[in-house]
Amino acid sequence: MFNFTAPPPLALYVHIPWCVRKCPYCDFNSHELRDELPERDYIAALLRDLEQDLPQVWGRTVESIFIGGGTPSLFSPEAIAELLSGLRARLNLKPGLEITLEGHPGTVEQQRFADFRAAGINRLSIGIQSFNDTHLERLGRIHGRREAIRAAEAAHASGFDNFNLDLMFGLPQQRIDEALEDLSTALDLEPAHRSWYQAHPGAQHLVSFPSAAAAGWMTACRTSRKRARSGSAPEAILSTRSRLTPGAGANAGTT
Ligand SMILES: C[S@@+](CC[C@H](N)C(=O)[O-])C[C@H]1O[C@@H](n2cnc3c(N)ncnc32)[C@H](O)[C@@H]1O
Ligand code: SF4
Repeated sequence: MFNFTAPPPLALYVHIPWCVRKCPYCDFNSHELRDELPERDYIAALLRDLEQDLPQVWGRTVESIFIGGGTPSLFSPEAIAELLSGLRARLNLKPGLEITLEGHPGTVEQQRFADFRAAGINRLSIGIQSFNDTHLERLGRIHGRREAIRAAEAAHASGFDNFNLDLMFGLPQQRIDEALEDLSTALDLEPAHRSWYQAHPGAQHLVSFPSAAAAGWMTACRTSRKRARSGSAPEAILSTRSRLTPGAGANAGTT
């Protein structure tokens, strides 16, 4: 039965499509940055676009915002502040709502995280994929294990209690113990949330997930879940979604 007395709340996804380099496995709507980042023009275009949809959301409250990509942490903290103030001026935002920014370990340092926080971001989602240098290199990532760990430490040090780490499993030639080692390292870094994505078999560069190994992966997943619930980070939720619908911005608000 529908309840028409209160309009349903909203979650807003904002897409920022640029990255330092396009990872060969990634089928998001993301593009290598070749020129200067058009921060102001892009924000102005986003807000014009939003204005066209405002009649559809009249009287409704936005309960969370997810700024994803791409690599939104490429935008300056000033640009993110400008975007958020444009959203505040046009939308009815719930006080204290969760506002997530997606970041990449190759583009962050502690002061930048602190500045994003001052700009109004209260949750980070950091794309780690693996802590194993060999796998990171095979994936074409621009960062290594050290930068990945440093990014999580910088998130804590700059006051983000609420952050997510993205990991991928089923990588080319990855063994189960290596994937578990990644999970264990992630748990040790005490993020509030982890996303553990099965490498999407349709993506260029990645091999299919071997079904014969599925039972082993599921056991690994259950063990990690137990640790997430009873171990060092009791608040944690472990996501083990198989994911990615090919196409633009398919990750709206998922991590
Ligand atoms: C839009 S990316 C944003 C994160 C950031 N740009 C980075 O890569 O560090 C969101 C997440 O999607 C996941 N992802 C990307 N391509 C994938 C694929 N082919 N299969 C599974 N997960 C994938 C990765 O975990 C990635 O961190
Ligand atoms: S995985 Fe992240 S950094 Fe790599 S191309 Fe996709 S969005 Fe960009």
